Amino acid sequence: MPILEGEGVTKYFGGLAAVSNVDFYVDEGEIVGLIGPNGAGKTTLFNLISGALVPKSGVIRFQGANITGLKPHRICKMGIARTFQSVKVFANMPALENVMLGSLFGAPNSVAPAEAVREATALLDFVGLSAVGATPAKDLTLANQKRLEVARALATKPKLLLLDELMAGLNPTETAEAMALITRIRDQGITIFMIEHVMKAIMSVCDRIMVLHHGVKIAEGTPQEIATSKKVIEVYLGE
Ligand SMILES: Nc1ncnc2c1ncn2[C@@H]1O[C@H](COP(=O)(O)OP(=O)(O)O)[C@@H](O)[C@H]1O
Ligand SMILES: [Mg+2]
Repeated sequence: MPILEGEGVTKYFGGLAAVSNVDFYVDEGEIVGLIGPNGAGKTTLFNLISGALVPKSGVIRFQGANITGLKPHRICKMGIARTFQSVKVFANMPALENVMLGSLFGAPNSVAPAEAVREATALLDFVGLSAVGATPAKDLTLANQKRLEVARALATKPKLLLLDELMAGLNPTETAEAMALITRIRDQGITIFMIEHVMKAIMSVCDRIMVLHHGVKIAEGTPQEIATSKKVIEVYLGE
């Protein structure tokens, strides 16, 4: 059974079908990539999965349960966490406290503050930020703010992690580190659905890739199949 599946998922903004009748699934333990040109509807699909937006029609199921239209905090507590294309950290709050928020407010079971500190400390270490726990988030580099978002998402103890352009704006070294981090997260038993433009990362990290174009799913397959798909090259890779 897929951990996440969608059937006929559709979202309009005015007359624009940002996501149009999209079927998708993510199997437990997979790393699935979501690619497509700017404006294809990728972030909108993540907003529909995480509850930030409600679809006009279609059904989204997580671990077999219908989550369509549930509020974001409920979906988070059920086990879906996310990061954002433009990082959303609490700028003046120290890194450690940013991560604690995930434990305190996003986890399925309530966590005492002392336990939240322990969890956040371990997660900062896991993402490579143990040296900057006391630093206000706004003073971290973009790469480190992105790691911080990952740590905060992990603090909610997700079964599924949605990553929206984690590598955008990172240099090659930081990109390689982000790729390694994604693999380590999957090795912890967390399923990953990731939007990415960095093809090298997508092709080497993902088990399977899905392609959106103008809100429509135009291809789905292994990295090899996607890299050689005429349709995908025409609308996206060939750019
Ligand atoms: N909140 C919104 N209101 C109106 N239009 C939106 C909104 N969010 C996204 N769109 C439009 O929906 C389309 C898909 O956007 P988005 O999902 O952000 O694409 P992607 O993440 O693939 O670049 C774009 O045409 C975008 O301008
Ligand atoms: Mg986007």
